[in-house]
Amino acid sequence: MTEPPPLDEHRAAELRHVLADRLERDGYLRSAAWRSAVGTVPRHEFVRAYFRRTRSPQATMWTPVVPGHDDAEAWLEEVYTDDTLVTQLDGHLHPTDLDGSVQGNPTSSSTLPSLVVRMLQDLGPQDGDRVLEVGTGTGYSTALMCERLGSEHVTSVEIDPAAAERARAAITAAGYEPTLVNGDGLLGHPEGAPYDGLIATCSVRTVPRAWLEQVRPGGTIITTVSGWLYGSGLVKLTVGEGGTAGGRFLPGTVSFMIARPHAAPAVSGVAGLLIQDADERPAQVGPEVLADWTTQFVAQLAVPGAQYIGMSTDGGPMLDHVVDLATRSFATLVPDGRGGCLVRQGGPLRLWDAAEEAISSWRKAGAPPQTEFGLTVTPDRQRVWLGSPEGPAWDLPA
Ligand SMILES: C[S@@+](CC[C@H](N)C(=O)[O-])C[C@H]1O[C@@H](n2cnc3c(N)ncnc32)[C@H](O)[C@@H]1O
Repeated sequence: MTEPPPLDEHRAAELRHVLADRLERDGYLRSAAWRSAVGTVPRHEFVRAYFRRTRSPQATMWTPVVPGHDDAEAWLEEVYTDDTLVTQLDGHLHPTDLDGSVQGNPTSSSTLPSLVVRMLQDLGPQDGDRVLEVGTGTGYSTALMCERLGSEHVTSVEIDPAAAERARAAITAAGYEPTLVNGDGLLGHPEGAPYDGLIATCSVRTVPRAWLEQVRPGGTIITTVSGWLYGSGLVKLTVGEGGTAGGRFLPGTVSFMIARPHAAPAVSGVAGLLIQDADERPAQVGPEVLADWTTQFVAQLAVPGAQYIGMSTDGGPMLDHVVDLATRSFATLVPDGRGGCLVRQGGPLRLWDAAEEAISSWRKAGAPPQTEFGLTVTPDRQRVWLGSPEGPAWDLPA
């Protein structure tokens, strides 16, 4: 492997301060202590190599950027932009494994700094607080917390062994010593509990019971709740006694890669499912609701076990399908040729009926933004509600 060129530390510090200035000016950095952390933590230690996204007419391609192969100044400048830098594809590919561009699905990254600092400030740990992070990734956000709170107050869990190992090396090189765990963060890290706060930089379909047990009553959980229709929302929960928690969704269109144990099942054999007997009727809403931030979230709440699949059957056109593999139910949206759409539904559940009903109650409530939704967690159920806990509500998947 080519040795990386010597790093221009002075230039790196300059770029880091430019980034901190920008995050402050744009309102993302709201406290002197977090500003100082961004100005201090060397992001370049955590993203020595990454993938640059390029779009070709056919597909999204990922081009490896590796110092030593690439222009060192361009690399350093890119490292200190407010962008997500993808560091792993398909659960195993690292940029140093490749010479040319590839297709793939991002499975680890350094999240864009503005989002990291925004979430850390939403979490709002005070001096002396102990924080659990789920999704170490490159370790950059872990290092920011170490800089702000002290390494002895930070624990971070990463499920991917190779990412965890690289993060450990980078965090150590940057001079921090948090507790780092390679394992499933949905189980938390009971040995370090109780925590004052938990921040997840991967998303979950439901709030794991272990988090409610390991964050002390009165403590805070910041996480994105997502699902298999790709809906997502950032929620801030205050933990109560006995496995309870509650709170509201926060502003912004925030999404993260889904926690690996919560990923949608593989879609083999779907073509056979889609040709089952079906009812057909005009749809009240079409596939456009699956491309809009809030209606996508609402539709997902209504069909928590369903996943989105775009595919063609029998060489026909590409169509939008919502499929619940567990019950073998499906809804297929078919353009009616007049600008509207028909829906074909089969299996025991009428998935699109449920999605339309939820979207209709959201519209009747004035089509409010996501900040009007909240989440109440009890030991038996997790309910997302609209307006107030007494308003329309939907259970997250069991
Ligand atoms: C967006 S990245 C994290 C970004 C990171 N905080 C940073 O600043 O570099 C999400 C990470 O969550 C990890 N992950 C996914 N499921 C997980 C789980 N169940 N437990 C712990 N980590 C998980 C992924 O492997 C990935 O590295």
